[in-house]
Amino acid sequence: MVDLHVKINDLELRNPVLTASGTFGYGLEFADFVPLDGLGGVIVKGTTLRAREGNDYPRMAETASGMLNCVGLQNKGVDYFRTQIYPRIKDIDTHMIVNVSGNSPEDYAECAARIDELDRIPAIELNISCPNVHQGGMAFGVTPEGASSVVRAVRARYHKTLIVKLSPNVTDIADIARACEAEGADSVSLINTLMGMAIDIERRRPVLSIATGGLSGPAVKPVALRMVYQVARAVKIPVIGLGGICTAEDAVEFLMAGATAIEIGTANFLDPAVTIKVRDGLGAWLEAHGCSSVSEIIGCLE
Ligand SMILES: Cc1cc2nc3c(=O)[nH]c(=O)nc-3n(C[C@H](O)[C@H](O)[C@H](O)COP(=O)(O)O)c2cc1C
Repeated sequence: MVDLHVKINDLELRNPVLTASGTFGYGLEFADFVPLDGLGGVIVKGTTLRAREGNDYPRMAETASGMLNCVGLQNKGVDYFRTQIYPRIKDIDTHMIVNVSGNSPEDYAECAARIDELDRIPAIELNISCPNVHQGGMAFGVTPEGASSVVRAVRARYHKTLIVKLSPNVTDIADIARACEAEGADSVSLINTLMGMAIDIERRRPVLSIATGGLSGPAVKPVALRMVYQVARAVKIPVIGLGGICTAEDAVEFLMAGATAIEIGTANFLDPAVTIKVRDGLGAWLEAHGCSSVSEIIGCLE
């Protein structure tokens, strides 16, 4: 048997396969297709301090080898999560990780502090691709200063494993990763979606209600892989890779580029059992290649 265990800070994962936020609900929705205790962890829907309606429809569009979305972080807020969702997911036998978003560093920190109190949530993932309301709506994650401001505020009030999810819509992602590491992030995950657009030429209008949206799926994989490769060389903390992963071979590429774990997003919409298939395929691939442990291929590029 191949040893698939990996560690993200103090968090021991039984295998490197995690779900990407916003594509796997709270895990429960997929329980008929996937034995949740077979995954390394489940990263749940984006959660904010207060409830959010999300953007108007249409919010999704299919593209060549991918999709665009502008869901806009629709959720019922952190207190609803604590009282209504947490009791239903807390006994799932895997790491349940909450993805946290906000409009200001204070928002993020308050939301994180309320999740810190929940015993069975061992980690959060900060989505820093959110607009900063105090600074003209520019996303926090696009400058080292913006990223630092969020991580610093959260680190002061959150005491468990802190993963920071990086935006790919930047000039130098390694700079942003270093800024997050310097403020005490335990890990970085990348990539979030790439800004994109689709146009309905008959109506002469954008397809999505707010014109632009985030591109995900196989179309983004080469970009994501390049960024994971760059970030893994820039920081000492573990890197979690994602963007277009659909198969075990895709996962192997990210691990070889330096990722300690991977997340699967858009592929869940095509095949709800893809996560467990990638886990099994990864084990089989390692065995066929004479590896006794997944750690043998992490960052193994010549
Ligand atoms: C419908 C949808 C909703 C998403 N919601 C979130 C979210 O709430 N928070 C977040 O950090 N990322 C969110 N993402 C981004 C994904 O977690 C992931 O970073 C991105 O889709 C790239 O991975 P993939 O190509 O495997 O989907 C969302 C993506 C999609 C497609």
